[in-house]
Amino acid sequence: MIKVNGVSKDYANQRVVDDVSIEIAPGGVTSIVGPNGAGKSTLLGMISRLLPMSAGTVQVGGLDVTRADTAELARHLSILRQDNHLPLRLTVQDVVAFGRYPHTQGRLTVQDKGHIEKAIAYLNLQGLEGRFLDELSGGQRQRAFIAMVLCQDTEYVLLDEPLNSLDMKNAVDIMKVVRRAADELHKTVVLVLHDINFASCYSDMIIGMRNGRVLHQGPPQTFIQPSIIKALYGLDVAVHEWQNNRICVHYT
Ligand SMILES: Nc1ncnc2c1ncn2[C@@H]1O[C@H](COP(=O)(O)OP(=O)(O)OP(=O)(O)O)[C@@H](O)[C@H]1O
Ligand SMILES: [Mg+2]
Repeated sequence: MIKVNGVSKDYANQRVVDDVSIEIAPGGVTSIVGPNGAGKSTLLGMISRLLPMSAGTVQVGGLDVTRADTAELARHLSILRQDNHLPLRLTVQDVVAFGRYPHTQGRLTVQDKGHIEKAIAYLNLQGLEGRFLDELSGGQRQRAFIAMVLCQDTEYVLLDEPLNSLDMKNAVDIMKVVRRAADELHKTVVLVLHDINFASCYSDMIIGMRNGRVLHQGPPQTFIQPSIIKALYGLDVAVHEWQNNRICVHYT
């Protein structure tokens, strides 16, 4: 369970996350959507302790994130940041192996190597293991970062815009990996997505943020409605049912 209780973030005298309280049940996929600047990344940053909170508390699997031991937190929770600042002179193999660090402190066992191989295969990175990050396309690099996070093998996985730079097929593959991680490995995955239809088709829960607040929260069946999308983005959309999914059409 992720419990976010009365969390706010202030920069100078601007409040960018405003008294957010949410509970995310264990073992499922939750998507956070909302316009640019809504506070999605800031919220994820505070849940993972990358950013200090101005007010409130966050518990992840019973751990108080402000007080938890760093290594222990990293064994429970992993995060893919929207902007990664890893040095580009690392190979794919190095980056993915980096995900094992909280478990090994650098000494890889046979089991760790198994995790690394599996993550590389899951993200279709075979053959690219020896390449440096600056020798990859944007989408390949994004897949290497996702492989690193999956390799950390934590119960809670936070992914900030994991579909950035990915083509349609790779985006669908990532969402299937995410779904499998929740369904088969009972992981709790929280993603920030801009594609509302990916959120609709692959999430158990959707959280809609605007101006630092949670405007609406619910399963895709209740969330994907023209009135909610209009309130979030100020955009008129049509919603269609297709193969038991609600699809939002917004090209007019
Ligand atoms: N270091 C900072 N100093 C001041 N303001 C900041 C800082 N970081 C973010 N902000 C502001 O906080 C607000 C929320 O930013 P955040 O990155 O959380 O938005 P977001 O919902 O993730 O947007 P996007 O979809 O564009 O990634 C924005 O108005 C942003 O300009
Ligand atoms: Mg963001």
